[in-house]
Amino acid sequence: MHDDIKDVLISEEEVQQKVSELGKQLKEDYQDLNPLCICVLKGAFPFMADLVRAMDIPLEMDFMAVSSYGASTESSGVVRIVKDLDTSVEGRHVLVVEDIIDSGLTLSYLLDLLRQRNAASVKVVTMLDKPTRRTTGLKPDYCGFTVPNEFVVGYGLDYAEKYRNLPYIGVLKEHVYNGES
Ligand code: XMP
Ligand code: MG
Repeated sequence: MHDDIKDVLISEEEVQQKVSELGKQLKEDYQDLNPLCICVLKGAFPFMADLVRAMDIPLEMDFMAVSSYGASTESSGVVRIVKDLDTSVEGRHVLVVEDIIDSGLTLSYLLDLLRQRNAASVKVVTMLDKPTRRTTGLKPDYCGFTVPNEFVVGYGLDYAEKYRNLPYIGVLKEHVYNGES
């Protein structure tokens, strides 16, 4: 285990088992729809990579990067598109792939945008859900794990851009946040 990690919340084996279950379900649901899977960068990149291979059907991929306005660590709901899609979503069955849904503000904005652009359907698969923090009515269509209200890292999730490459999901030791060594 990494020195900065206090607890492993979800082990690598549990993560991989869940990805394979979600992939199987999505394979059934999207079999003949040639879905457009949209990875929300950066956090969703490992999940997207594992999930699309577990789906094992014809599909396309695209990538989008968004950032919330304002300096606070809490999502403001005002979203700036840092990198837009290369593909038109018009008439497409879109599957948005997320790392974690917290307040839901970022995702609500994204979903509205994709619907305005006339996608045939828009659904969401998230690896993690923190429903206690939700300020919107948003519910993911597919979800890996529900997590408590703690800041988690690993499997794409970062603290100051670190820990994204951990193969499990864990909670950081307090001293890492406080800047002590
Ligand atoms: P909202 O509040 O708009 O924000 O749903 C979702 C985004 O907030 C980030 N986020 C986290 N990142 N550990 C992280 O590394 C966490 O525990 C966490 N909670 C929220 C993340 O970027 C997500 O897409
Ligand atoms: Mg994110």
